[in-house]
Amino acid sequence: MKIAIAGKGGVGKTTISGTICRVLAQRGERVLAIDGDPNPNLSVVLGIDKNKPPHRSLSTDIIERVEDGKSWTFRVKMPFEEILSTFGQEAPDNVTLLIVGKPEQAGTGCMCGPHTVVRELIHSALTSENEATMVVDTEASLEHMKRGTSRYVDRMYMVVEPYYRSLEAAGRFAEMARQLGIKEVYAIANKVRNEEEADAIKEYCAKINLPIAVFVPFDENITAADLKGMSIMDFDKNSKAVQAIQQFVKSIN
Ligand SMILES: Nc1ncnc2c1ncn2[C@@H]1O[C@H](COP(=O)(O)OP(=O)(O)OP(=O)(O)O)[C@@H](O)[C@H]1O
Ligand SMILES: [Mg+2]
Repeated sequence: MKIAIAGKGGVGKTTISGTICRVLAQRGERVLAIDGDPNPNLSVVLGIDKNKPPHRSLSTDIIERVEDGKSWTFRVKMPFEEILSTFGQEAPDNVTLLIVGKPEQAGTGCMCGPHTVVRELIHSALTSENEATMVVDTEASLEHMKRGTSRYVDRMYMVVEPYYRSLEAAGRFAEMARQLGIKEVYAIANKVRNEEEADAIKEYCAKINLPIAVFVPFDENITAADLKGMSIMDFDKNSKAVQAIQQFVKSIN
């Protein structure tokens, strides 16, 4: 299964992506975490020591342009397993992390390269023997969608917070995801403090026809873990947000 996590800036995409990876891996699944944000920070949420030097990230070197009749397409040059052994970083619970979004150098211009790498990486995984569950943490913009990065995912989750602009953005993301042909698009309601907030999200999502997969409560332990640069799983694995994500993961596989 290949899933992508999207949504407006700061809604909790990385926190949710990393925690889903850890929970899936603790259930015995092989998990590939893809950091597709040009400002990557999934490694901390996965529980990789923040003092470790940054791992090698995938660059546009791994893809090549090939002529396909009248147009050009891209493909990954290396076999998928070689990508994993060259660029994969081991994280706690046996999760493997691949960092894709980071531009090689500041000021190298357009992000079209890394977006294409993410897209072709997912494509390449689909056509390989690799059966790991892939979780893609995306950046807070419509770029991944516009560039078709998410075209090959099975499911897309829009993380929403209980405030209007986040919900409104989720509506736009969801619409674009549907245009890309992703059949399963859901909301993940995050940082929910009370019934009133849950009801506001329910009402908006019902209007835009976006089913809600899970309500993740606002959890002070996440904030505290974040302040220390730790994964919530290592800070307090019984925390209420983790429990909600565990229930959610049970329901998806
Ligand atoms: N359920 C939660 N309860 C409390 N705080 C949370 C929760 N989920 C996320 N946060 C906090 O919200 C902030 C943003 O989280 P995160 O970095 O995961 O968001 P993001 O959507 O990935 O952001 P960006 O758009 O910058 O990539 C962080 O400080 C994080 O600790
Ligand atoms: Mg993020």
